[in-house]
Amino acid sequence: MSSNAVPTHERVIITGASGAFGRAAAERLLSRMPGSQLVLTTRTPASLDDFARRGASVRYADFDDPGSLSIAFAGGTKLLLISTARVGTRVGQHKNAIDAAARAGIRHIAYTSVLGAAEPDNPAIVKLDHRATEVHLEQSGLDWTFLRDSQYAEAVAGAIIPGALAAGHCWDNSGDGRVAFVARQDCVACATEVLIQQGHANKAYDITGPELLSIPQGVEMAALMMGKPIVVKRVNDDEMFEYFDALGVPRHASDVRPRGAIPWSSDDMVTFGQSIREGYFDVLTDHVELITGRKPTPLHDIMLAHQASWTANPHPVGP
Ligand SMILES: NC(=O)c1ccc[n+]([C@@H]2O[C@H](COP(=O)([O-])OP(=O)(O)OC[C@H]3O[C@@H](n4cnc5c(N)ncnc54)[C@H](OP(=O)(O)O)[C@@H]3O)[C@@H](O)[C@H]2O)c1
Repeated sequence: MSSNAVPTHERVIITGASGAFGRAAAERLLSRMPGSQLVLTTRTPASLDDFARRGASVRYADFDDPGSLSIAFAGGTKLLLISTARVGTRVGQHKNAIDAAARAGIRHIAYTSVLGAAEPDNPAIVKLDHRATEVHLEQSGLDWTFLRDSQYAEAVAGAIIPGALAAGHCWDNSGDGRVAFVARQDCVACATEVLIQQGHANKAYDITGPELLSIPQGVEMAALMMGKPIVVKRVNDDEMFEYFDALGVPRHASDVRPRGAIPWSSDDMVTFGQSIREGYFDVLTDHVELITGRKPTPLHDIMLAHQASWTANPHPVGP
């Protein structure tokens, strides 16, 4: 799909702009349009001073504080709604954002969802928040685009591998289920392009990497790169819960302490592995190339980008 210059009347807002996805999206949009057409919202505006210096508007917004959203979204025409991080607690936050966007006159929202969000039998609880948000958007009267992202390659290279290398083993309940691991940067490119190109309204895309691999195959790739064996302990869901319990990971999102040391819950991780094992991530599409005009990045490239950090900064398994 071809890309066009962004019409000067468009004003694009990115929410959660201080996060890894948000900052990357802001960088990409600043390379495609003037800063005067870009609004970045965050709970920590000072953390985005570097973007403000380049001409972007930076505004305070907290989805838990609907009053902050009308000012934050004023004047916007399109919005990249980046899903917030605490699985199981997000639907109300996302609804607040969508409702405020509609009141502010925003016409089109692109939303970062997850692969398999609309599969009714998908056991991954992460899909519940995403699908509820998608339904709210479908009913909002606004144009929408769903970016249903596969598992990030960075979730393997940056989260599973460092701890696995340090321990010489890792625990896994995803069996031989396959995933087309996708580079976050490719997800970012799709999320920004669907807002600045024409033709993406009211479409859902499955954003995947270029090859289907199991998690044990991904772990083996890193082991070969480092010349160090990693044993994948193939466990069932109950054993996977016990593993996370031993690490002190809360079982449910409601037990997670906001901004605490472990911002995720084991029911999310275990059902994610179950979903992979049951084939819900066994999806390979050409949607990254369709939207960006470029082939998606292989997992191996993301592994190479992380390799130097593996020995320098080992840490436990996480999302
Ligand atoms: N497919 C996958 O494998 C995968 C893996 C990881 C994450 N994800 C998804 O991608 C999203 C972005 O990932 P990331 O790496 O950028 O996460 P991140 O760095 O943890 O950022 C999460 C963002 O959520 C925003 N947020 C949290 N609470 C908020 C609130 N009350 N109001 C408004 N914004 C709030 C934060 O915004 P501010 O701090 O700027 O306010 C932050 O920028 C995640 O939230 C998750 O849904 C997918």
